[in-house]
Amino acid sequence: MSTVDSQQRVLSGMRPTGRLHLGHLHGVLNNWVKLQHEYDCFFFVADWHALTTHYGDPTIIEDNIIDMVIDWLAVGVNPGSAALFVQSKIPEHAELHLLLSMLIPLGWLERVPSYKDQQEKLQERDLDTYGFLGYPLLQAADILIYRAGFVPVGADQVAHVELTREVARRFNHMYGREPGFEANAEAAVGKMGKKAARLYSNLRTAYQEQGDHEALEKAQALLTEQQNISIGDRERLFGYLEGGGKMILAEPQALLTPASKMPGLDGQKMSKSYGNTICLREPLEDVQKKISTMPTDPARVRLTDPGDPAKCPVWQLHATYSTDETREWVVEGCKSAGIGCLECKKPVIDAIVSELEPIQKQAQQYEKDSDLVRSIIVEGGETARETARETLHEVRSAMGLVGW
Ligand code: TRP
Ligand code: SF4
Repeated sequence: MSTVDSQQRVLSGMRPTGRLHLGHLHGVLNNWVKLQHEYDCFFFVADWHALTTHYGDPTIIEDNIIDMVIDWLAVGVNPGSAALFVQSKIPEHAELHLLLSMLIPLGWLERVPSYKDQQEKLQERDLDTYGFLGYPLLQAADILIYRAGFVPVGADQVAHVELTREVARRFNHMYGREPGFEANAEAAVGKMGKKAARLYSNLRTAYQEQGDHEALEKAQALLTEQQNISIGDRERLFGYLEGGGKMILAEPQALLTPASKMPGLDGQKMSKSYGNTICLREPLEDVQKKISTMPTDPARVRLTDPGDPAKCPVWQLHATYSTDETREWVVEGCKSAGIGCLECKKPVIDAIVSELEPIQKQAQQYEKDSDLVRSIIVEGGETARETARETLHEVRSAMGLVGW
């Protein structure tokens, strides 16, 4: 497998923590369906990641794995175009996580913003665990084991992809160098003036041991200023700062998933924690009921009271689902009290029902045949595992675990 090929590879994971809803559809899932035609896609259920926070109630995870894959399949994620699998069935992720844990500085993990954020947000859970601290490193292993070029994630996960890049760089630096590189680089350091050489070495240590980016930039600036070193040595010293040897692990790029504009039933972002969702497999009568009873502009107490769509969560649903023409009808009818709120909700109800109907029909087929779902995951797992094994073999041999 060449690195060039792997750069066309897309990988993403989702934790199995509950039924998927319209927010997932309009954010992540439609994006996956699009990407599967353009790239070599790997999509997986991140059940180990779910355990880092839900280790106390594993039944949630068990129940949700097959259900989540059914939701993926029902919306059109195609096992013929993408490998679908479950993380814990690919032990290579765990071994790579272990091996990377040898070289990642603790500070890199402690500084990931989601670490402290989530600990504060999920106070009812004890997240002072080894596994939770390692969450982003496990994610890095998920990505690096496939040498994926692109990782579609939401904005909250970009820092994890960034960390993955740093881990790959550090790994390549430590284990990917050509013979003699280090001695040549050290000789080049000696060719700088004494003061510059000492500064370079200190900055390099600060970057490599603490991930200090300012130190990296200062060291790069220092090298740019050096007058009396050869071009070859300058290149060596740049490489020596960051690595610059053989690339065993590929640095991935985050593909920022366009934020879902899907509002929840209360106008806030649709999210399970706000209790404002419409699930993909919600019975259609319930969908109808939920939308019929959702709040509108509070100024419209009676039918004769004019309203303002800007103050109404229903309007945001029109923004996602309605044509310009319908939207004009809403604005005009709402402001002039010419239409009632239930009347206004009707086109939204119809649009959501007709969006969900085919999804639910598909889901039913898979619900009836969970063996089919299982075989899809097994097959996807085999494809994934083949790639994972190759990478792990190179990692093992780079770390001295093969040739004896
Ligand atoms: N942490 C991700 C989330 O919460 C899920 C995830 C686990 C993931 N491993 C991954 C996403 C690898 C992308 C790539 O959404
Ligand atoms: Fe909202 Fe429509 Fe009622 Fe206006 S008419 S308040 S936009 S539901």
